[in-house]
Amino acid sequence: MKTDKLSSGNAALDTLLGGGLEARTVTQFFGEPASGKSTLCTIAAVACLRAGLSVVYIDSEGFSIERFRQIAGEDTEKIADRLFLFEPIDFEHQGSMILEAEKVLKAHKTGLLVMDSATALYRTDLEKGRDAMQALTRQMLHLLGYAKRYEIPIIITNQVYIDTTKNTYAGLGGTALEHLSKVIVRLEKTDAPGIRRARLVKHRSRPEGASFEYEITGDGISSRPS
Ligand SMILES: Nc1ncnc2c1ncn2[C@@H]1O[C@H](COP(=O)(O)OP(=O)(O)OP(=O)(O)O)[C@@H](O)[C@H]1O
Ligand SMILES: [Mg+2]
Repeated sequence: MKTDKLSSGNAALDTLLGGGLEARTVTQFFGEPASGKSTLCTIAAVACLRAGLSVVYIDSEGFSIERFRQIAGEDTEKIADRLFLFEPIDFEHQGSMILEAEKVLKAHKTGLLVMDSATALYRTDLEKGRDAMQALTRQMLHLLGYAKRYEIPIIITNQVYIDTTKNTYAGLGGTALEHLSKVIVRLEKTDAPGIRRARLVKHRSRPEGASFEYEITGDGISSRPS
């Protein structure tokens, strides 16, 4: 069994996660718009590509090549060939692209699978009144199967809604998504302009509540302990 961890590409995030992204596990980043979810996904993908492995990147929100270029810098051309990008256009398509992605996992030495976001297209189905919860659970179980079979870490991002009873943001996707994500990091904006905070809200072997602050920068994030 593979027990090593893959660097998330950021030292403070690695520390928060107890050494990096765990293989065979789904790690979830959730937070409000512009909190840094896609930035952290891109940083992790670039770190994995720089380590010589391939990355499966399922992007339901429109992949930003420009942002990838900013973060990868002069390595962009060298590593971009090993980034296998899937861009589903609706929630059903997301499910079929998850199936299709296994071809890459079989054919290439893949170090990471990213799904950014797991719930943007799901939300659209929900809004159309469809019972999307079961389909989301099926998609997630499929990903978890890949994590175990190919011994890789998986990152998903999750959108939030405002839980008016508690006056706070909560992740979409219900308890199934919460259960299947063994590590959950919440990204939040702080009162200080431009300063965001990453907080560990779920982990099997790390204290919950630990956090660090960061700013989003040209080449990724700059972080400091909080
Ligand atoms: N080159 C850059 N320099 C500084 N800040 C940047 C740069 N590129 C993007 N940002 C900032 O990053 C933020 C967006 O981050 P990101 O796309 O990671 O958020 P997100 O959580 O994925 O948002 P969404 O929910 O909309 O997908 C914005 O505030 C934007 O101004
Ligand atoms: Mg995003």
